[in-house]
Amino acid sequence: MNHLLSIEQLTRAQIESLLADAAVMKRERGRHGAQPLAGQTWALIFSKSSTRTRVSFEVGVSELGGRPMFLSAAEIQLGRGEPIKDTARVLGRMVHGAIFRTFAQSDVEEFARYANIPTINALTDEEHPCQILADLFTIQEKRGPMPGKVVAFIGDGACNVAHSWLFAAGKLGFELRIAAPAPYRPAPELLARAGGRVMCTEDPRAAARDADVLYTDVWVSMGKEAEAAQRLRTFEGYQINAALVQQARPDALVMHCLPAYRGREIDEETFEANAQTIFDQAENRLHVQKAILAWAVR
Ligand code: CP
Ligand code: NVA
Repeated sequence: MNHLLSIEQLTRAQIESLLADAAVMKRERGRHGAQPLAGQTWALIFSKSSTRTRVSFEVGVSELGGRPMFLSAAEIQLGRGEPIKDTARVLGRMVHGAIFRTFAQSDVEEFARYANIPTINALTDEEHPCQILADLFTIQEKRGPMPGKVVAFIGDGACNVAHSWLFAAGKLGFELRIAAPAPYRPAPELLARAGGRVMCTEDPRAAARDADVLYTDVWVSMGKEAEAAQRLRTFEGYQINAALVQQARPDALVMHCLPAYRGREIDEETFEANAQTIFDQAENRLHVQKAILAWAVR
């Protein structure tokens, strides 16, 4: 049994093996007979909204022979204050695996500890490991191996997606540049924990210069809505647009984990010019998560 709670807890070899398995899942979709989740029910417990993660996991569990059971946290007793550890002990006796999207990373970790079934982090305030594994897969599919690449993350450097990028850089030997306003820089403690070649700057142009990948995420993550007005003001100037793309390598990939807010973190023209990459990236969530599911039950 394996959990996927954080990129930090994976070894480089595990990441490489998951990405290799994902390539097989993608190539053989609809043709492969392996059903590692046959006879299993997997709970998807979501405390936050989701399109991609929910759909890709529901489809992925089904394609591997299992049955997904979507549980909105608001509609189960968890939403009325039943402790995580009690919810985990009940579900652990009834279902075979859990995919959990919530606020605190410690809640996902507590769930995994008490449920004693494979548990997958489907996004917390601190991490989004499934997203970054799919992003790595997408970059390698389009541009080859990660070592030597330069990824520029532009925007909220203290968000879940940026954190997972940090841990990935520490493992895979590519250069990560984070362009963020000072209050939204990753915490020094995290930078130290992640290691790797990471440069933080307040200058998006410096981060983008000759980069292989320009990457962004929303400026107002789920749960931060009360800070929206102030965030929109602070992040002005951190948009991926034609002027910023000009700084990167001519063949640079422009990526977005989605959902995208045009006119904020990316402009309409740049988004549409890179829609093929961005929606390949979204599709790859399915293939990569199928590899994660098959590994989780090993
Ligand atoms: N990128 C991502 O996780 O999208 P959803 O919030 O729609 O799942
Ligand atoms: N940082 C974003 C990611 C959405 C997939 C959020 O947490 O809302």
